[in-house]
Amino acid sequence: MILVNATAAGARGLALGRPLGRRTVARSAAGRAPVGRGVVSPGLPVPAHIVRPAYAANASGSPERPDTHFEVQDTPDKVRRLRAACALAASVLERALGLCTEGTTTDEIDAAVHAMVVDAGAYPSPLLYKGFPKSVCTSVNEVVCHGIPDSRPLRRGDLVNVDVTVFLEGMHGDTSATMVVGGRDAGGAAGARLVRAAEEALEAGVGAVKPGLPISGIGLAIEAYARERGYGVVSEGTGHGVGEHFHVPPYVFHVANSYPGALREGMSFTIEPMLTERPDYEIALDANDGWTVVTKDGQLSAQFEHTVLVTAAGVEVLTARPPPRRP
Ligand code: MF3
Ligand code: CO
Ligand code: CO
Repeated sequence: MILVNATAAGARGLALGRPLGRRTVARSAAGRAPVGRGVVSPGLPVPAHIVRPAYAANASGSPERPDTHFEVQDTPDKVRRLRAACALAASVLERALGLCTEGTTTDEIDAAVHAMVVDAGAYPSPLLYKGFPKSVCTSVNEVVCHGIPDSRPLRRGDLVNVDVTVFLEGMHGDTSATMVVGGRDAGGAAGARLVRAAEEALEAGVGAVKPGLPISGIGLAIEAYARERGYGVVSEGTGHGVGEHFHVPPYVFHVANSYPGALREGMSFTIEPMLTERPDYEIALDANDGWTVVTKDGQLSAQFEHTVLVTAAGVEVLTARPPPRRP
């Protein structure tokens, strides 16, 4: 996701966003201890034969064409390559979620994702992106997004989001999901309901995608869905165009917004709503690592993300995962 604040949104003519505050509260209202930060091990090596995105080669990790490019897949070959990247991301995510068990560290999840991506001949897009140190984002409990995998073992009842992005055949595919460690009932009913609502809010957003409809309608649908159920939607984080570039326009807000323009066939972008337990929340950026976004009061947050393609008929969810097999 892309973080916007009031100033950036205002500069784009958008009436939304709030300034980021400092992380202050130590313990959530529910009495759950904050996740805290473990030890971050060094990033893993990528074999020389793997094609890297341009940002991975420059020292700052700056993306090559920030904010100018608009992803539109206008040839069958581009669509084919984007489908392949997204299918790989979905498959890696599915397998990574299966590894999120009690006692497993998020660092171990990172190593597993890294190996799966590299074994498939792809590059793990987060690694060195604007200096991000690891190959995947893992965001636990009050961590809203961009959590850095570390030495902390997952606990029964944790809400963990795994956000996988891969660069394959010149295309990025980006997808995430949140699960309750130990199963839906392990974290109590409130956590499971929040996870379900976040997934359904994403589906509501996907349902607003069709050529000719306003891009801004996606956020309207998501916010309406979440608010009817009493949840908050993190307004500061947007989806983004994705394909040859990781984070480019269009920016897809997850709340009511004034983002201009209509959906057109061939556009590819993410939808990735972050919901909070309560309608009111504030977020803060961890000042020590510059990445981890948390709820200030420690309330839980859950996120789901798909990369979608606008088609003549409506929408193709490129990162759809096969439904779980039942015995
Ligand atoms: N995958 C995230 C997104 O959904 C972006 C992660 S950028 C990183 O947009 F540098 F934190 F990895
Ligand atoms: Co994204
Ligand atoms: Co993502």
